[in-house]
Amino acid sequence: MEAGAVLLLLSALLGISSTLSFYGDSVSFNPPQKQKDGTFKVALYHRQNGRSSCAHQSSFSCQDGVCSSFDKSGVLQTDQDDTGQGRWCQSEGRTTVTVRTNNTSFSLRDSGCCWVSNVRGRTNRTTEAELNLGTRSDSRAINSCPVTSAVSSLRVPQNCFSRIRLLALDPDGDKVRCRFASDAAAPANFTLDETSCTLSSTGQIQAGVQVLELTLEDFPSKNITLTYADGTSEFREASDMNAPPLCKVKLQFSMEVLPPIPNCEAGHVQPMFLVRTPSHGDILHATVGQTFQLYAQAQAHHASIHDFQVSGPQNMTKEVKDDRSGTAEVTLSWTPRRTDLYRFVPVCFTAETNATQSEMRCVVVMVTQASITQGKATVQCSPNKMMVALDKASMPGIDENFLELRDPSCTLTSNRTHIMGSISFSTCGTKLEDKGDYIVFKNEINSFELPNEIVIRRKTVKIDFSCQFPKTISISSYYNLHKSDYIFTESSFGSFGYTFEIFRDENFTNKVEASAYPVEVKLLQTIFMGIQANSELPNVTLFVESCKATPDDNPENSRSYDLIENGCLKDETVIVHPSDQNEFNFEVQAFKFTGNYDQVYITCAVILCEPGNPFSRCAEGCLKEPSRRRRRGLSKETSTHYITQGPLQFIGPAGPNAAKDERDAAMKESESLAAGTSPSDSPDTKSKGDRWEIQELLNSNITTVVFASGFLVSLVLLAVVVRHYSRKRKAEDRNALIVSDFEN
Ligand SMILES: *[C@@H]1O[C@H](CO)[C@@H](O)[C@H](O)[C@H]1NC(C)=O
Ligand SMILES: *[C@@H]1O[C@H](CO)[C@@H](O)[C@H](O)[C@H]1NC(C)=O
Ligand SMILES: *[C@@H]1O[C@H](CO)[C@@H](O)[C@H](O)[C@H]1NC(C)=O
Ligand SMILES: *[C@@H]1O[C@H](CO)[C@@H](O)[C@H](O)[C@H]1NC(C)=O
Ligand SMILES: *[C@@H]1O[C@H](CO)[C@@H](O)[C@H](O)[C@H]1NC(C)=O
Ligand SMILES: *[C@@H]1O[C@H](CO)[C@@H](O)[C@H](O)[C@H]1NC(C)=O
Ligand SMILES: *[C@@H]1O[C@H](CO)[C@@H](O)[C@H](O)[C@H]1NC(C)=O
Ligand SMILES: *[C@@H]1O[C@H](CO)[C@@H](O)[C@H](O)[C@H]1NC(C)=O
Repeated sequence: MEAGAVLLLLSALLGISSTLSFYGDSVSFNPPQKQKDGTFKVALYHRQNGRSSCAHQSSFSCQDGVCSSFDKSGVLQTDQDDTGQGRWCQSEGRTTVTVRTNNTSFSLRDSGCCWVSNVRGRTNRTTEAELNLGTRSDSRAINSCPVTSAVSSLRVPQNCFSRIRLLALDPDGDKVRCRFASDAAAPANFTLDETSCTLSSTGQIQAGVQVLELTLEDFPSKNITLTYADGTSEFREASDMNAPPLCKVKLQFSMEVLPPIPNCEAGHVQPMFLVRTPSHGDILHATVGQTFQLYAQAQAHHASIHDFQVSGPQNMTKEVKDDRSGTAEVTLSWTPRRTDLYRFVPVCFTAETNATQSEMRCVVVMVTQASITQGKATVQCSPNKMMVALDKASMPGIDENFLELRDPSCTLTSNRTHIMGSISFSTCGTKLEDKGDYIVFKNEINSFELPNEIVIRRKTVKIDFSCQFPKTISISSYYNLHKSDYIFTESSFGSFGYTFEIFRDENFTNKVEASAYPVEVKLLQTIFMGIQANSELPNVTLFVESCKATPDDNPENSRSYDLIENGCLKDETVIVHPSDQNEFNFEVQAFKFTGNYDQVYITCAVILCEPGNPFSRCAEGCLKEPSRRRRRGLSKETSTHYITQGPLQFIGPAGPNAAKDERDAAMKESESLAAGTSPSDSPDTKSKGDRWEIQELLNSNITTVVFASGFLVSLVLLAVVVRHYSRKRKAEDRNALIVSDFEN
């Protein structure tokens, strides 16, 4: 105890001179291991953030001197500001503690002074953790603490702050509760979602440095019994948040709230992560002795990304590449050692520009033995579903009867050699994720237990798989015909979606069901279409900036016809019907493109605004001078999203005979084209050809090696990247179209 006090005093003295700018810290634990002599050994990793120096030896102590032999390995600086201004750095130090107690839990504490000067005038800091020492009945091991971390220096313009998703992952699958630390009140206008560990604002946050001190606690999500060293045991009911937590750790970080900027859109001046970047909360895998790599890519159109800030383990190396076109990438490499085995290592990163920063993303790297099992699996992505096939031979010990998809009502099938699943994008619990430049559909195969099973001898499995599609092409192509739900996420608006439907009459209630697509229409028939916005925010105004028709589902087709442009009605048959502020209902008389095109797709550009804001795009309405540059940052509104519906299929005679009935919707050159085409030409060759090619590309198999280990058999199928429709190809297609027009 005395030694602890001396250490504390020493560190306080040292601290005054060297840690005048504490930026926060986090601690992660390996679960305590019981030794033969009855003591427990706990390895802890302390990450400390600071201004120009942060590699201080941490000096934890336990209450009542139950801890002995603090075995500290060197503290290493793991990341630092590369601008030469020494604005931030992070270090990690490993300490192994021997705990001698017959108590059910023990706690550790490290305190000091000198938070970075901040708006609330916080000075003293305390780092604490409390760990339960009981053996869990479910895992037959001592509890693992929630895993968390943060980069050294978070920066956000005052008007752009909407939320920060913090890492709060529990290796045992427990429920994690995040709270503001009891000795530190919530900073003004901040609120914390206790379940998702998301920090958001309830009003304007004060500019300057904000310091945040949070506590993460885990509670079992199943009924468990804890058995202690002295032979006593304790029952813990599932999700009983009134019971003491199994583990309590602290996460402290600082956030610099910068002056407002004109545009908060991700990808404008604030970098946006691109698709190859892992998602927040992903679990990645590393193997002892093998180099693990994490790749992230970010883009900002109006700023240059010069660095990535990283919170990672000791000796993780960082290689940043900037391609000078607004996109930068980072490769993090790390080779786990024996002592890292079974560690859950948090890794967080942000993309840095001079003026601001991207969102922070955090993942957890799970370190396992040299892979015991090499699993083989194949994912096939097709326009509206994904098919996964697991090679049984590569995964011995996996019982297919105890595997399920995210939605257990969807079944897996199997033959002698494979376990197969065919999963639609809209069912089976498939999740849609907007990854900036790509849309990703994700599902997973998990093993499950029978409710009354006491001992599980099967291996547990989790197999993540996904299909991803570039956003440059309208999503509707993947739904072959009808697609009504579009989902987007934007930092200042959260998640929101649109439905785009064709209705049977002017009441806009009786929609044409998906199975009836393509919708058959006759020329000059009235078509009723409705767009509805659904948002997490209670009151939003929907604005339809433009709607145009194209003969295929490529909204960038040069053959197009405007119905609405810049908020103004362009076609005289368009009539807008009155509706709620989150809806837009309109009618238009059916038309078709001259030439052998008997299909029409409608693509609309839509925006959501905060209601009642006179400066929003929604309030401006029809703009005769579209070139006027708008400063979106001044009002809360989303960026423009494109939604497509169709096709409308024309029935009845097509081709030159019907030409006199057609409203001329095409471009000039198509008139001569129509005159020269013979009715025997197969209609819509071009668009069919396109679709076929897409399908062919999507159907190409990509085999991914998955791995598993005896500790927690876990299979990861990396996303199947299908890059079939880059901008370049699109341009080529368009050229081909123009050429063929001339040839005709
Ligand atoms: C726990 O340990 C303390 C001192 O180490 C001892 O006095 C006490 O009897 C022990 N209690 C039990 C229940 O073993
Ligand atoms: C046991 O732990 C509790 C809670 O941490 C603490 O209040 C108590 O003093 C401890 N008892 C001993 C003997 O260490
Ligand atoms: C900070 O800690 C010092 C010494 O531990 C104490 O004297 C002081 O009152 C503390 N300050 C605050 C604001 O808690
Ligand atoms: C909290 O937000 C409200 C509304 O935006 C604002 O009036 C108030 O000044 C903010 N409080 C602080 C301490 O910044
Ligand atoms: C958990 O325990 C509670 C209280 O004993 C009981 O009511 C509940 O049914 C149990 N739940 C499960 C899933 O066993
Ligand atoms: C990190 O690298 C240094 C120098 O190569 C080495 O001495 C140290 O042991 C390494 N630490 C870890 C945790 O890998
Ligand atoms: C970033 O800002 C610093 C000073 O604030 C300046 O010297 C440097 O040139 C800037 N870098 C870029 C890439 O704009
Ligand atoms: C089982 O199904 C997979 C995937 O469809 C197939 O590749 C394999 O040949 C089938 N095996 C047998 C024995 O039919």
